[in-house]
Amino acid sequence: MGEHTTTRPPVFSVVPGAAVHRSLEGRRAEILDLVENAYRLHGAGHTVNPPSYFLRFPDRPASRIIALPASVGGEVGVDGIKWISSFPTNLELGIPRASAMLVLNDRVTGYPFACLEGSIISAVRTAASAAVAARALTAERGAPRRIGFIGTGLIARYLHTYLSELGWDVEEFGVFDLSEEYARSFAGQVLGADRGTAVRVHSSAEELIRSSDLVVFATTAATPHITDPDWFSHHPVVLHVSLRDLSTEIILDSVNVVDDVDHVLQANTSVHLTEQRTGNREFLHATLDDVLTGRFTAPADRTVVFSPFGLGLLDLVVGANVHRWATAAGDATTIDGFFHDLDRYESAGAR
Ligand SMILES: NC(=O)c1ccc[n+]([C@@H]2O[C@H](COP(=O)([O-])OP(=O)(O)OC[C@H]3O[C@@H](n4cnc5c(N)ncnc54)[C@H](O)[C@@H]3O)[C@@H](O)[C@H]2O)c1
Repeated sequence: MGEHTTTRPPVFSVVPGAAVHRSLEGRRAEILDLVENAYRLHGAGHTVNPPSYFLRFPDRPASRIIALPASVGGEVGVDGIKWISSFPTNLELGIPRASAMLVLNDRVTGYPFACLEGSIISAVRTAASAAVAARALTAERGAPRRIGFIGTGLIARYLHTYLSELGWDVEEFGVFDLSEEYARSFAGQVLGADRGTAVRVHSSAEELIRSSDLVVFATTAATPHITDPDWFSHHPVVLHVSLRDLSTEIILDSVNVVDDVDHVLQANTSVHLTEQRTGNREFLHATLDDVLTGRFTAPADRTVVFSPFGLGLLDLVVGANVHRWATAAGDATTIDGFFHDLDRYESAGAR
């Protein structure tokens, strides 16, 4: 045995969805803090977050699988990758559109040490990042009383949960979805649980936008379908989580805050289309980190649009903590011998 072969790879474990779910229960405030801190680490240059890679299929144009590798330094200290697929036809099969797994790699050896169910972590980090943004972007104008959801799938459900954590006194929730059936079941099953808050299912996106102080877009629209800036004349805050709903006219008429400039200006997002149209980036006012650190204050008298591309580093930060919590609770499944051939010159089978 060579002198450098005494270190063993870290223990490898799998954290299934049920364990991920249990780990996250009762920790929403903590997750909001973790995600906010992750943006600050990113802003301070303690992360590596290369462009996401979109795997597409000529024979299945509506589907995709995205790879989001990242590295987070500072006190988090983890490398890894999220591998998330979106197959919209899954809804017809009665299962969620997106599925994902998250792999965490050891900082010292590079060995993967955990594989986690990733779709819950992805939804949680998306919802938490939008809630962190919503809190910061409404600081000047005060908490919204009327919150509207356009697109009522899984992401909207998690967004509602994390926005609820902010403790706002909400008067009315509005809902609109291309599918009235989805809108009605979201209104009943998700928002109906918020006793004391009125819930209204709208018959058009215009009606919903005009009657909301905070508008959440969580659709699967591939191209802009909301085109009239006048619908925003009351200057709401817009959480543009689905990224491709708003026309360039609306983007140009708004104050634009993004998570990461280079990331969000790709893949035909509304802000990417706006960059293509104008040939510049001057319509982008700030990153979320600028807002969190006080370098930029979102005005109360303009429409403010937050467009988060969704950074892999957020999945890693939430995933590393879920792994830690699940392991401490005895809820992670250890796979003994996952890495088998660990001697460089002697095959394990020959011993
Ligand atoms: N930015 C990020 O970090 C991030 C992260 C995760 C998901 N997302 C995006 O969030 C979106 C929602 O994800 P999901 O898992 O909830 O999807 P989902 O398929 O479960 O739900 C989407 C809903 O939007 C509705 N819809 C589609 N087009 C619409 C339109 N033009 N107007 C109104 N409603 C419309 C559908 O009927 C459906 O109910 C996706 O676009 C996804 O890519 C973004």
